[in-house]
Amino acid sequence: MQTSDAVVTFQVVFRLCTSPQFLVLCTVGDVPTPRVQLRSPCCASVLSVPELPSSTFVGCLLALCGAASWLDTASNLGRHQRQRQRRHPPALPLFQDTALQDLIIMSLNVLAIGSSRNIGYYSSIRLLNSGATVTFLLRSPGVFDADETIQKYIKAGKAHLVKGDALVKEDVQRVWDEAGKHGPVDVLLFTVGGTPKFSFTKGFVIDPANLVTQSLFNALCTIPTSEPQPRVITISSTGLTRTSHAKLPLPLKPFYGHFLALPHKDKVGAERLVAHCAGWSWNTKDDGEPEDDIMGAKGDEWKKREGLPAEGSLKRALVIRPAFLTDGECKAEDEKEKKKGKPGYRVSEGELGGWTVSRKDVAHFVADAILNRWSEFENKRVNIAH
Ligand SMILES: NC(=O)c1ccc[n+]([C@@H]2O[C@H](COP(=O)([O-])OP(=O)(O)OC[C@H]3O[C@@H](n4cnc5c(N)ncnc54)[C@H](OP(=O)(O)O)[C@@H]3O)[C@@H](O)[C@H]2O)c1
Repeated sequence: MQTSDAVVTFQVVFRLCTSPQFLVLCTVGDVPTPRVQLRSPCCASVLSVPELPSSTFVGCLLALCGAASWLDTASNLGRHQRQRQRRHPPALPLFQDTALQDLIIMSLNVLAIGSSRNIGYYSSIRLLNSGATVTFLLRSPGVFDADETIQKYIKAGKAHLVKGDALVKEDVQRVWDEAGKHGPVDVLLFTVGGTPKFSFTKGFVIDPANLVTQSLFNALCTIPTSEPQPRVITISSTGLTRTSHAKLPLPLKPFYGHFLALPHKDKVGAERLVAHCAGWSWNTKDDGEPEDDIMGAKGDEWKKREGLPAEGSLKRALVIRPAFLTDGECKAEDEKEKKKGKPGYRVSEGELGGWTVSRKDVAHFVADAILNRWSEFENKRVNIAH
């Protein structure tokens, strides 16, 4: 039997140990591209393997089942731990750290807001290349007209373009709905940013000054309430807080302190918003409270915004704070750097005191965190620098 002979569907549903920790559903022969899909409803992730000869397919399937049983038995999780995992399942619970990961490409349903270029774009391409479905919210969908990579994925039904503005709540609601047509949304990749104009007196100015915060409000106020929650990944910046600013390389301090002061007020607003929804601590003394103009309300009134997830209810967030962004290459994939044993970039919850990081390296980290290392970074604020 060859997988290309016909559309064949196998459904293999089995319970492991005493709890329904994992359900595995295998489908062969999707139209138009025959392939194998493994879905775990617990983590709402889809693992897909490209077309394989039947013998290889059967071999892989048996290996997967064997590995699944072995992992489950070996993990010997206590009852309490199992219950906890059901509530907040890790993204790659079954096959992480196994050689099978080389064979299996993970397929996710991603909503990308702010991905027409740079970090969001590079991350989306990596996720598409991994087998994910990505729905883009774009002010100008024509931006991808001449983009052969995106066009290829549009034709394959993996990339979807929705016209809209992140500052318009109805547009954001619509893009969640559109993304939801391809299955539960697993990831919100939020990388909105403005093109700054420079003024000697004010430094870099974006218009509107609260673009990132207000766009993020819209994304969070319309987030689906179904379980498991989509993972939320947002891009912030280093040097926002007093402690972070103190750790910056000396020559960068006036630059960050004066020229980036306005965009950073917007980033503080966005970080405050995530911290509130995720229930993270907020050090008002060092980090300050965002200004009313940024939050669009007086004092704490913004916390009552319609649809905003309740305090502490957002369980799967990751805030990434890059150093000054460059258009350099991805050092993480540079063969010379690899030979020197250098990791390309550094990531830490602590301050890094770094100068720069390339957008391509940040995208490399975004994709790696989503696809391979989510349990390491869930519910964290991390810095990234070369
Ligand atoms: N520059 C730095 O050194 C630095 C350092 C740390 C963090 N950051 C932050 O990192 C983030 C990502 O930066 P980046 O350079 O990778 O990206 P970027 O060039 O700032 O691109 C931002 C994206 O947001 C989109 N966008 C802007 N307004 C929108 C709106 N109203 N509705 C929908 N989409 C909108 C843009 O789409 P359009 O095509 O429609 O414009 C674009 O795709 C930004 O927030 C940036 O401020 C920057």
